[in-house]
Amino acid sequence: MLIKLGVVAGLAALFQWIMTVLTNKISYSVIRQMRNDCFEKLEHLPLSFIDRTPHGDVVSRIISDAEAVCDGLLLGFSQFFTGIVTIIATIVFMLTINVKITLVVVIATPLSLFVARFLSKRTFNLFKSQSVVRGEMTGYVNEMLGGIKTVTAFSQEDESCEHFDDINKRYENVGVKALFFSSLVNPSTRFVNNLVYTAVGIVGAFSAIATGGITVGQLSCFLSYANQYTKPFNEISGVITELQSAMASADRLFSVMDEMEQTPDKPDAKVLRSVDGSVDAVNVSFSYNPDVKLIENFNLSVDKGQRVAIVGPTGCGKTTVINLLMRFYDCDKGEIRVSEIPINDIKRSSLRGAYGMVLQETWLKTATVWENIAYGCPEATRDEIVAAAKAAHCHSFIKRLPNGYNTVLSDDGILSQGEKQLLCIARVMLRLPPMLILDEATSSIDTRTEQRIQRAFAKMMQGRTSFIVAHRLSTIREADVILVMKNGNIIEQGTHEELLQKGGFYSELYNSQFAVS
Ligand SMILES: Nc1ncnc2c1ncn2[C@@H]1O[C@H](COP(=O)(O)OP(=O)(O)OP(=O)(O)O)[C@@H](O)[C@H]1O
Ligand SMILES: [Mg+2]
Repeated sequence: MLIKLGVVAGLAALFQWIMTVLTNKISYSVIRQMRNDCFEKLEHLPLSFIDRTPHGDVVSRIISDAEAVCDGLLLGFSQFFTGIVTIIATIVFMLTINVKITLVVVIATPLSLFVARFLSKRTFNLFKSQSVVRGEMTGYVNEMLGGIKTVTAFSQEDESCEHFDDINKRYENVGVKALFFSSLVNPSTRFVNNLVYTAVGIVGAFSAIATGGITVGQLSCFLSYANQYTKPFNEISGVITELQSAMASADRLFSVMDEMEQTPDKPDAKVLRSVDGSVDAVNVSFSYNPDVKLIENFNLSVDKGQRVAIVGPTGCGKTTVINLLMRFYDCDKGEIRVSEIPINDIKRSSLRGAYGMVLQETWLKTATVWENIAYGCPEATRDEIVAAAKAAHCHSFIKRLPNGYNTVLSDDGILSQGEKQLLCIARVMLRLPPMLILDEATSSIDTRTEQRIQRAFAKMMQGRTSFIVAHRLSTIREADVILVMKNGNIIEQGTHEELLQKGGFYSELYNSQFAVS
């Protein structure tokens, strides 16, 4: 008997271990898959989603919410497997003793789950709001870190701490409330189960005394099985908090995955082979918000190799035109053509690959200078990278960095804004794309360096089309065509001299900006 007991105990321990290992493996691989799907989804979502969702909230979903789902899965799985085995085994044992009482136990116990369900329905929403507030909190920390200089410059430290405390307090409140309700679940299921247990004890006792349908020994054995049988139900309701929180978090993860993706490329979408550089926009209309009209009936015809400057007051839609050219947003009406092909018929990756883009907001990844310049062109040799860096006038300051080209940079690192912009320009110079988009790309660079870069660009862009949004006269004056935009439309078009002679909006803009100095 002792040997048998020993073997059983040993096997129990072994299976327990195997189960834990498997549960871990399943949970972590499920969550890895979910995280990957979610991250991949982000790359396929339309830019409008990214523009309107606080980034911290998305971070919180992919990191914290996924973690909560993982915890829930771990608990759920381990409870589930042992639970199933226990329930089946005890039902079999109980049936061998007394069928009638077994049926009562088997049917009555799950009643406790109804109680659990009733209570947990109320807590689900609380857990949901808890993870929403958690997302808000991540978003806020993110925002404050990003703007820490502005916060301190306006002496808003106390306010921002207060606001954080406010979010934190809400998190506490909703958490306490959720836990309060979910903590009721386990005692109530236990209570219901104990009632069943008591009832079985009493009925069994009576039947033992009155009819002798069951012996006292059988009854006590039965009761201990009945006790085992209810355990999984009690245990499931014991981890209901974690399960509920996991479910609420899963809801938030899935809602990202369910977001509408950008319209996929057409099945027969073309790959641009030779880009001649002509760009046409025909009757293009677009607005971010259907109620606020922005670009209407926009027409444009750019010959290959032309340098196009886009000027106009703040908010007139210059960046929007760039967004449409790159197909970050789709036109509502009309179409844009590159090399005579409508851009909606071109693979997005191919279209975007045809443009080299430098924006005012720079972005560097956490990597060495080498890797940052070779971003999007990983096969470039070191010599090519250095040549691009020289052309973009960043060679000299890279040399001065602690580890030269091997220095690891990051987006919020040590470089000045202008230096970052120069690096981004080097990136484009390395790739030598057929067309170029510069959206205030040189706004943080001093005039002398800018002029040198313009010359380098001019050399590079010979025979290539470029769109340049700039406020500086030197850049604008050298353009082949100047588009003057106002309220989303081109109101004047021509060379610098033509536009000045015309004496219209451009000359007004020019005089107000430059004539004084
Ligand atoms: N993602 C967006 N969602 C909704 N509205 C937007 C969005 N981006 C820009 N807008 C609005 O569209 C209008 C045009 O913006 P756009 O960025 O094209 O201006 P811009 O000419 O580039 O100005 P700036 O010279 O300041 O860069 C603005 O009124 C702006 O508020
Ligand atoms: Mg802009």
